[in-house]
Amino acid sequence: MDLSTFRIGIIGSGNMGKAIIKGLQFSRQSPTIAAWDALSDNRKLLKEEFRVAVPQDNRALVLKSDIIILAVKPQVIDPVMEEIADSLTEEKLLISIAAGVPCKRFENTLTAPVPTVRIMPNTPALINRGISAIAAGNHAQDKHLEITQAIFSCLGETALVPESAMDMVTAVSGSGPAYVFLVIEAMLDAAVGLGMARDLARKLVIETILGSTELLKESGKHPMELKDMVTSPGGTTIAGLAELEKNGLRHAFNEALKSACQRSQDLGN
Ligand SMILES: NC(=O)c1ccc[n+]([C@@H]2O[C@H](COP(=O)([O-])OP(=O)(O)OC[C@H]3O[C@@H](n4cnc5c(N)ncnc54)[C@H](OP(=O)(O)O)[C@@H]3O)[C@@H](O)[C@H]2O)c1
Repeated sequence: MDLSTFRIGIIGSGNMGKAIIKGLQFSRQSPTIAAWDALSDNRKLLKEEFRVAVPQDNRALVLKSDIIILAVKPQVIDPVMEEIADSLTEEKLLISIAAGVPCKRFENTLTAPVPTVRIMPNTPALINRGISAIAAGNHAQDKHLEITQAIFSCLGETALVPESAMDMVTAVSGSGPAYVFLVIEAMLDAAVGLGMARDLARKLVIETILGSTELLKESGKHPMELKDMVTSPGGTTIAGLAELEKNGLRHAFNEALKSACQRSQDLGN
Protein backbone atom coordinates (compact mmCIF):
# COMPACT_ATOMS: atom_id res chain seq x y z
CA MET A 1 0.00 0.00 0.00
CA ASP A 2 1.49 3.33 -1.10
CA LEU A 3 0.75 5.93 1.57
CA SER A 4 2.61 8.76 -0.17
CA THR A 5 -0.47 9.97 -2.03
CA PHE A 6 -2.51 10.47 1.15
CA ARG A 7 -2.83 13.54 3.33
CA ILE A 8 -3.03 12.37 6.94
CA GLY A 9 -4.30 14.70 9.68
CA ILE A 10 -3.67 13.80 13.31
CA ILE A 11 -5.83 15.30 16.05
CA GLY A 12 -4.04 15.16 19.41
CA SER A 13 -0.25 14.97 19.51
CA GLY A 14 0.53 13.47 22.90
CA ASN A 15 2.33 10.15 23.37
CA MET A 16 0.46 8.20 20.71
CA GLY A 17 -0.01 11.05 18.23
CA LYS A 18 3.72 11.74 18.22
CA ALA A 19 4.53 8.02 17.90
CA ILE A 20 2.27 7.82 14.84
CA ILE A 21 3.92 10.86 13.25
CA LYS A 22 7.40 9.46 13.92
CA GLY A 23 6.43 6.03 12.56
CA LEU A 24 4.96 7.55 9.40
CA GLN A 25 7.95 9.82 8.83
CA PHE A 26 10.32 6.85 9.04
CA SER A 27 8.23 4.76 6.64
CA ARG A 28 9.50 4.46 3.08
CA GLN A 29 6.46 6.11 1.49
CA SER A 30 5.85 8.94 3.89
CA PRO A 31 2.45 10.61 3.39
CA THR A 32 1.78 14.33 3.77
CA ILE A 33 1.20 14.84 7.49
CA ALA A 34 -0.54 17.64 9.35
CA ALA A 35 -1.46 17.70 13.03
CA TRP A 36 -3.15 19.77 15.70
CA ASP A 37 -3.01 19.71 19.49
CA ALA A 38 -4.74 21.69 22.21
CA LEU A 39 -1.38 22.42 23.91
CA SER A 40 0.51 25.33 22.35
CA ASP A 41 3.85 23.75 23.36
CA ASN A 42 2.93 20.65 21.40
CA ARG A 43 1.93 22.72 18.37
CA LYS A 44 5.33 24.44 18.52
CA LEU A 45 7.03 21.03 18.70
CA LEU A 46 5.00 19.77 15.75
CA LYS A 47 6.15 22.70 13.61
CA GLU A 48 9.74 23.02 14.76
CA GLU A 49 10.80 19.46 15.54
CA PHE A 50 8.48 17.23 13.52
CA ARG A 51 8.23 19.77 10.69
CA VAL A 52 4.57 18.97 9.94
CA ALA A 53 1.87 21.43 8.92
CA VAL A 54 -0.20 22.82 11.81
CA PRO A 55 -3.46 24.34 10.52
CA GLN A 56 -5.38 26.88 12.57
CA ASP A 57 -7.71 24.35 14.21
CA ASN A 58 -9.05 20.78 14.03
CA ARG A 59 -11.70 21.73 11.46
CA ALA A 60 -9.12 23.21 9.08
CA LEU A 61 -7.02 20.08 9.58
CA VAL A 62 -9.91 17.81 8.60
CA LEU A 63 -10.73 19.88 5.51
CA LYS A 64 -7.15 19.44 4.27
CA SER A 65 -6.87 15.69 5.06
CA ASP A 66 -7.97 12.44 3.39
CA ILE A 67 -7.41 10.41 6.53
CA ILE A 68 -8.07 11.74 10.03
CA ILE A 69 -6.59 10.02 13.08
CA LEU A 70 -8.20 10.85 16.42
CA ALA A 71 -5.44 10.49 19.03
CA VAL A 72 -7.08 12.35 21.92
CA LYS A 73 -8.29 10.95 25.24
CA PRO A 74 -11.75 9.33 25.17
CA GLN A 75 -13.25 12.13 27.32
CA VAL A 76 -12.33 14.71 24.64
CA ILE A 77 -13.89 12.80 21.73
CA ASP A 78 -17.33 14.46 21.96
CA PRO A 79 -16.12 18.11 21.82
CA VAL A 80 -13.67 17.21 19.02
CA MET A 81 -16.46 15.53 17.03
CA GLU A 82 -18.67 18.60 17.50
CA GLU A 83 -15.88 20.67 16.01
CA ILE A 84 -15.16 18.47 12.98
CA ALA A 85 -18.37 16.54 12.21
CA ASP A 86 -19.59 18.81 9.40
CA SER A 87 -16.17 18.66 7.65
CA LEU A 88 -16.16 14.87 7.48
CA THR A 89 -17.42 13.39 4.21
CA GLU A 90 -17.75 9.82 2.98
CA GLU A 91 -14.60 10.29 0.80
CA LYS A 92 -12.51 10.62 3.98
CA LEU A 93 -11.44 7.92 6.42
CA LEU A 94 -11.81 8.45 10.18
CA ILE A 95 -9.52 6.39 12.41
CA SER A 96 -9.87 6.51 16.21
CA ILE A 97 -7.41 5.15 18.76
CA ALA A 98 -9.50 6.31 21.73
CA ALA A 99 -9.77 3.38 24.14
CA GLY A 100 -13.30 2.09 24.67
CA VAL A 101 -15.03 4.39 22.15
CA PRO A 102 -17.03 2.27 19.67
CA CYS A 103 -17.36 3.11 15.94
CA LYS A 104 -21.11 3.52 16.38
CA ARG A 105 -20.51 6.56 18.57
CA PHE A 106 -18.93 8.32 15.55
CA GLU A 107 -21.45 6.91 13.09
CA ASN A 108 -24.35 8.18 15.22
CA THR A 109 -22.85 11.69 15.37
CA LEU A 110 -22.25 11.92 11.62
CA THR A 111 -24.90 12.50 8.98
CA ALA A 112 -22.68 11.24 6.11
CA PRO A 113 -21.70 7.54 5.97
CA VAL A 114 -18.05 8.27 6.84
CA PRO A 115 -15.88 5.13 6.89
CA THR A 116 -14.69 4.68 10.47
CA VAL A 117 -12.04 2.35 11.84
CA ARG A 118 -11.18 1.75 15.49
CA ILE A 119 -7.70 0.87 16.73
CA MET A 120 -6.34 -0.45 20.00
CA PRO A 121 -2.58 0.14 19.95
CA ASN A 122 -0.25 -0.44 22.90
CA THR A 123 2.69 1.47 24.40
CA PRO A 124 5.53 -0.45 22.67
CA ALA A 125 4.25 1.49 19.62
CA LEU A 126 6.38 4.32 21.06
CA ILE A 127 9.45 2.39 19.82
CA ASN A 128 7.74 0.85 16.74
CA ARG A 129 7.29 -2.52 18.52
CA GLY A 130 3.58 -2.24 19.25
CA ILE A 131 0.66 -4.43 18.25
CA SER A 132 -2.39 -2.56 16.97
CA ALA A 133 -5.74 -4.34 16.73
CA ILE A 134 -7.88 -2.91 13.91
CA ALA A 135 -11.69 -3.12 13.75
CA ALA A 136 -13.95 -1.84 10.97
CA GLY A 137 -17.03 0.27 11.54
CA ASN A 138 -20.21 -0.19 9.47
CA HIS A 139 -19.12 1.96 6.51
CA ALA A 140 -15.48 0.86 6.31
CA GLN A 141 -14.55 -1.33 3.34
CA ASP A 142 -11.52 -3.57 2.68
CA LYS A 143 -9.58 -0.68 1.10
CA HIS A 144 -10.00 1.35 4.30
CA LEU A 145 -8.68 -1.54 6.39
CA GLU A 146 -5.71 -1.91 4.03
CA ILE A 147 -4.86 1.79 4.41
CA THR A 148 -5.22 1.55 8.19
CA GLN A 149 -3.00 -1.54 8.29
CA ALA A 150 -0.35 0.26 6.25
CA ILE A 151 -0.42 3.25 8.62
CA PHE A 152 -0.24 1.21 11.84
CA SER A 153 2.42 -1.17 10.43
CA CYS A 154 4.70 1.85 10.95
CA LEU A 155 4.22 1.28 14.70
CA GLY A 156 4.79 -2.49 14.74
CA GLU A 157 2.49 -5.43 14.05
CA THR A 158 -1.23 -5.26 13.25
CA ALA A 159 -4.16 -7.67 13.68
CA LEU A 160 -7.62 -7.36 12.12
CA VAL A 161 -10.38 -8.15 14.63
CA PRO A 162 -14.16 -7.79 14.75
CA GLU A 163 -15.16 -4.80 16.86
CA SER A 164 -16.91 -7.16 19.29
CA ALA A 165 -13.43 -8.46 20.27
CA MET A 166 -12.12 -5.02 21.31
CA ASP A 167 -12.80 -5.43 25.04
CA MET A 168 -10.81 -8.67 25.04
CA VAL A 169 -8.06 -7.01 22.99
CA THR A 170 -7.94 -4.15 25.50
CA ALA A 171 -7.50 -6.66 28.34
CA VAL A 172 -4.80 -8.66 26.53
CA SER A 173 -2.57 -6.34 24.46
CA GLY A 174 -3.81 -2.86 25.47
CA SER A 175 -3.25 -3.43 29.19
CA GLY A 176 -0.69 -6.21 28.55
CA PRO A 177 2.47 -4.09 28.77
CA ALA A 178 1.55 -3.13 32.36
CA TYR A 179 1.26 -6.82 33.36
CA VAL A 180 4.66 -7.51 31.81
CA PHE A 181 6.21 -4.56 33.65
CA LEU A 182 4.74 -5.81 36.92
CA VAL A 183 6.17 -9.29 36.32
CA ILE A 184 9.56 -7.74 35.50
CA GLU A 185 9.46 -5.58 38.62
CA ALA A 186 8.56 -8.61 40.76
CA MET A 187 11.45 -10.66 39.27
CA LEU A 188 13.85 -7.74 39.80
CA ASP A 189 12.90 -7.31 43.44
CA ALA A 190 13.09 -11.05 44.03
CA ALA A 191 16.61 -11.11 42.51
CA VAL A 192 17.65 -8.19 44.73
CA GLY A 193 16.12 -10.14 47.64
CA LEU A 194 18.53 -12.99 46.86
CA GLY A 195 21.38 -10.51 47.20
CA MET A 196 21.97 -9.61 43.54
CA ALA A 197 22.96 -6.05 42.55
CA ARG A 198 20.00 -4.22 40.97
CA ASP A 199 21.89 -3.30 37.77
CA LEU A 200 22.86 -6.90 37.12
CA ALA A 201 19.33 -8.10 37.98
CA ARG A 202 17.87 -5.59 35.48
CA LYS A 203 20.16 -6.78 32.70
CA LEU A 204 19.50 -10.47 33.40
CA VAL A 205 15.72 -10.09 33.68
CA ILE A 206 15.26 -7.87 30.61
CA GLU A 207 17.46 -10.06 28.38
CA THR A 208 15.78 -13.24 29.69
CA ILE A 209 12.33 -11.88 28.81
CA LEU A 210 13.41 -10.48 25.43
CA GLY A 211 15.26 -13.69 24.50
CA SER A 212 12.41 -15.95 25.65
CA THR A 213 9.75 -14.07 23.67
CA GLU A 214 11.96 -14.01 20.55
CA LEU A 215 12.59 -17.77 20.93
CA LEU A 216 8.85 -18.37 21.33
CA LYS A 217 8.05 -16.28 18.24
CA GLU A 218 10.81 -17.63 16.00
CA SER A 219 10.46 -21.31 16.95
CA GLY A 220 6.66 -21.29 16.59
CA LYS A 221 6.64 -23.82 19.47
CA HIS A 222 4.05 -24.00 22.24
CA PRO A 223 5.24 -22.22 25.43
CA MET A 224 4.78 -25.48 27.35
CA GLU A 225 7.27 -27.24 25.06
CA LEU A 226 9.87 -24.50 25.61
CA LYS A 227 9.18 -24.55 29.34
CA ASP A 228 9.73 -28.33 29.40
CA MET A 229 13.12 -27.85 27.69
CA VAL A 230 14.48 -26.01 30.76
CA THR A 231 12.69 -28.13 33.36
CA SER A 232 14.85 -31.10 34.34
CA PRO A 233 13.51 -33.66 36.85
CA GLY A 234 14.13 -32.58 40.41
CA GLY A 235 15.92 -29.45 39.16
CA THR A 236 15.87 -25.75 40.00
CA THR A 237 13.31 -24.62 37.39
CA ILE A 238 10.61 -27.09 38.45
CA ALA A 239 11.10 -25.96 42.05
CA GLY A 240 10.53 -22.32 41.01
CA LEU A 241 7.58 -23.16 38.74
CA ALA A 242 5.91 -25.17 41.51
CA GLU A 243 6.00 -22.09 43.76
CA LEU A 244 4.50 -19.87 41.04
CA GLU A 245 1.66 -22.36 40.49
CA LYS A 246 1.13 -22.84 44.25
CA ASN A 247 0.88 -19.07 44.66
CA GLY A 248 -1.75 -18.83 41.95
CA LEU A 249 0.02 -17.10 39.04
CA ARG A 250 -2.24 -18.74 36.43
CA HIS A 251 -5.37 -17.95 38.44
CA ALA A 252 -4.19 -14.35 38.97
CA PHE A 253 -3.83 -13.84 35.20
CA ASN A 254 -7.25 -15.39 34.54
CA GLU A 255 -8.87 -13.04 37.02
CA ALA A 256 -6.85 -10.02 35.86
CA LEU A 257 -7.84 -10.41 32.22
CA LYS A 258 -11.50 -11.07 33.09
CA SER A 259 -11.55 -7.96 35.26
CA ALA A 260 -9.84 -5.74 32.65
CA CYS A 261 -12.22 -7.01 29.93
CA GLN A 262 -15.25 -6.29 32.14
CA ARG A 263 -13.94 -2.81 32.96
CA SER A 264 -13.48 -2.09 29.24
CA GLN A 265 -17.09 -3.20 28.61
CA ASP A 266 -18.36 -0.99 31.46
CA LEU A 267 -16.42 2.05 30.22
CA GLY A 268 -17.73 1.50 26.67
CA ASN A 269 -21.30 1.49 27.95
N1 LIG B 1 -0.85 5.57 25.61
C1 LIG B 1 -1.26 4.32 25.43
O1 LIG B 1 -0.66 3.33 25.83
C2 LIG B 1 -2.52 4.04 24.67
C3 LIG B 1 -2.80 2.73 24.31
C4 LIG B 1 -3.97 2.49 23.61
C5 LIG B 1 -4.82 3.53 23.28
N2 LIG B 1 -4.50 4.80 23.65
C6 LIG B 1 -5.41 5.88 23.33
O2 LIG B 1 -4.71 6.87 22.61
C7 LIG B 1 -5.31 8.12 22.86
C8 LIG B 1 -4.22 9.13 23.14
O3 LIG B 1 -3.48 8.72 24.27
P1 LIG B 1 -2.14 9.47 24.67
O4 LIG B 1 -1.48 8.62 25.70
O5 LIG B 1 -1.38 9.85 23.45
O6 LIG B 1 -2.77 10.79 25.35
P2 LIG B 1 -2.05 12.19 25.63
O7 LIG B 1 -0.56 12.01 25.73
O8 LIG B 1 -2.79 12.85 26.73
O9 LIG B 1 -2.31 13.00 24.26
C9 LIG B 1 -3.52 13.57 23.90
C10 LIG B 1 -3.22 14.97 23.41
O10 LIG B 1 -4.42 15.52 22.85
C11 LIG B 1 -4.50 16.88 23.27
N3 LIG B 1 -5.87 17.39 23.15
C12 LIG B 1 -6.82 17.55 24.12
N4 LIG B 1 -7.92 18.09 23.61
C13 LIG B 1 -7.68 18.26 22.28
C14 LIG B 1 -8.45 18.80 21.21
N5 LIG B 1 -9.69 19.24 21.40
N6 LIG B 1 -7.89 18.84 19.99
C15 LIG B 1 -6.62 18.40 19.78
N7 LIG B 1 -5.84 17.90 20.77
C16 LIG B 1 -6.38 17.83 21.99
C17 LIG B 1 -4.01 16.83 24.69
O11 LIG B 1 -3.73 18.11 25.16
P3 LIG B 1 -4.00 18.41 26.75
O12 LIG B 1 -2.94 17.67 27.47
O13 LIG B 1 -3.89 19.90 26.84
O14 LIG B 1 -5.37 17.90 27.06
C18 LIG B 1 -2.78 15.93 24.52
O15 LIG B 1 -1.65 16.67 24.11
C19 LIG B 1 -6.28 7.94 24.02
O16 LIG B 1 -7.61 7.96 23.54
C20 LIG B 1 -5.96 6.58 24.55
O17 LIG B 1 -7.14 5.93 25.01
C21 LIG B 1 -3.36 5.08 24.33
